[in-house]
Amino acid sequence: MNDVFLKACRGEEVPYTPVWLMRQAGRYMKEYQDVRSQVDFLTLCKTPELAAKVTLQPVDILGVDAAILFSDILIPIEAMGMRLEFSESKGPLLSEPIRNRTLVDRLTVPVPEDDLDFVLETIRILRRKLSVPLIGFSGAPFTLATYMIEGGSSKNFLNTKRMMFEKPTLFNDLMEKITHTVILYLSAQINAGAQAVQLFDTWAGMLAPQDYREFALPYVKKTIAKLKKHGVPVIYFVNDCAGILMDIKKSGADVIGIDWRVDIGEAVKKIGKKCAVQGNLDPCALFLSEDRLRERVEDILQKAKSAKGHVFNLGHGVLPDTPVEAARALVKAVHELSGE
Ligand code: CP3
Repeated sequence: MNDVFLKACRGEEVPYTPVWLMRQAGRYMKEYQDVRSQVDFLTLCKTPELAAKVTLQPVDILGVDAAILFSDILIPIEAMGMRLEFSESKGPLLSEPIRNRTLVDRLTVPVPEDDLDFVLETIRILRRKLSVPLIGFSGAPFTLATYMIEGGSSKNFLNTKRMMFEKPTLFNDLMEKITHTVILYLSAQINAGAQAVQLFDTWAGMLAPQDYREFALPYVKKTIAKLKKHGVPVIYFVNDCAGILMDIKKSGADVIGIDWRVDIGEAVKKIGKKCAVQGNLDPCALFLSEDRLRERVEDILQKAKSAKGHVFNLGHGVLPDTPVEAARALVKAVHELSGE
């Protein structure tokens, strides 16, 4: 087992910097498209043999040091009782957005072993096949709440912020239900074999810092505190994290994921030696020439040297048009330039 990724998460000494890419499985890869042309996206997520197959593709093709479970952050929301569809043009759609007491009370906290067993089965299949660690994941409570309240993606999150400001008790009750769901879901993933877990807080960077501290951070802290007993590294990624890094540091995460809008050297100075960092190449840098890509990799590796530990990653997910060759070249560059 290649455990370089887990060592870097814990801040232990490593022979080279491990690398994986957020959204490393997906449409930019022909092998993914071949599977996806046979089934719709939700069927792919819910068919363990197929989900395991596409999880393995980037491990084999790119040579990354960790696999991430193939699923979606919206899967547990469906299990809480909302109807989910993926539209080709509009992205995810959740019907009857949660905006009142009746709808909050109607949501259930799923039992992962019953309601989400297809995810746990995917993990069990993967652990038999993988020779790199498997990362499980969930959306963080605030990001899940935005999808539930907005009914899909959003530009300014007005419905979410209105609930925070106009009905704080209702918002809190919704967040408590989501937090409970996330804790059970990630604990079940770990029990099934996930060796690290990542919380994706894609939209928390849309909050004013004081609102992040009041309406998002407490629920992340609670989630991470409950997961501690399992002893696996917890990675917490907030997209657009610059303005709230000092608060994110208080989340209790073992590894803090950094998006590309921040200089990773500055981020490491703020974070200090308490947690490791993950990141943070601009996903668009995969469209640079190979020489210039290598320069950027070298720069990030140098700047992250003073961190407790560094897991190389993009600052957000791989974009659909990315050349697979560039992703391969990136993995190779990280390994070569960091010492393998
Ligand atoms: O990283 C991986 O390789 C694991 C798989 C993974 C997917 N989604 C697959 C996916 C993970 C970890 C996610 C997380 C996710 N999903 C997030 C958080 C991370 C982030 O990107 O900020 C969010 C916000 C979602 C919600 C979501 N899922 C949206 C908005 C969309 C539509 C936009 C798009 O890219 O099409 C999805 C669909 C989705 N999730 C796809 C994949 C591969 C594309 C589906 C397809 O095959 O058509």
